[in-house]
Amino acid sequence: MSASTPVRPTLPVDILARKGGAPLVCLTAYTTPVARLSDPHCDVVLVGDSLGMVLHGLPSTIGVTMEMMILHGKAVMRGITNAMPVIDMPFGSYEEGPEQAFRNASRLMMETGMPAVKLEGGVHMHDTIAFLTARGVPVMAHIGLTPQSVNTLGGYKVVGRADEGARVMADAEAVQAAGAFSVVLEKTPEGLSRRITQTLTIPTIGIGAGVGCDGQILVIDDMLGLFTDFRPKFVKRYANLGEAASDAIADYAAEVRARAFPGPEHSFPDE
Ligand code: KIV
Repeated sequence: MSASTPVRPTLPVDILARKGGAPLVCLTAYTTPVARLSDPHCDVVLVGDSLGMVLHGLPSTIGVTMEMMILHGKAVMRGITNAMPVIDMPFGSYEEGPEQAFRNASRLMMETGMPAVKLEGGVHMHDTIAFLTARGVPVMAHIGLTPQSVNTLGGYKVVGRADEGARVMADAEAVQAAGAFSVVLEKTPEGLSRRITQTLTIPTIGIGAGVGCDGQILVIDDMLGLFTDFRPKFVKRYANLGEAASDAIADYAAEVRARAFPGPEHSFPDE
């Protein structure tokens, strides 16, 4: 690259072009420091509505608002120079119809600077995704287990076993036909995920969907061991930062109680 070549961030077309190539590395981030840590290693950084559970202590993603997404979206944008950022549309911000979806997707993009949105749903979201993509909103779709529907699904179960597989395949084909540039497959059985990946011309990004997808995504707080309320089977912990933080806080508390902190190395002498 010559000194005059401008550095351009990763865009949805670049992610689309990765179909069938080197696996896409994707993680969530919600803050500037974590976005900065992830950015050099990731192709996609998602401001997921999982932030409601892992940062704000909500029982599900249902209570997440546009304002929460915008606040964290802006923070993440300050930490990204390499990866492609994507922001989740929260529950209630797009399901009414294409116009409502465009109003809120454009607000998310304009107020945060994010180049793409993610929304949950397959066949029933076809017209909404088509409306958005025709109007300059790149869409990452999310099918299989769609956590915003936890109350109708009846829990965070595997989606797509046996006869249900045909419905998930239909969802995948519908979001592709509508113009989505990629699709998240959550908690779909390994064989089905592989068949969907082989059938589609857009990249599939798996979470609990086996190794056969075009990429993988995890919630960063899960893989760093920061969120410990529960651990889905598909989460691998690459670090135990929650435990390390808890030990550090306990050490600090013990030293304060013993008047061992601050010692001379952290105090200012009079002269
Ligand atoms: O909200 C989120 O973090 C997500 C990913 C887990 C795919 O949707």
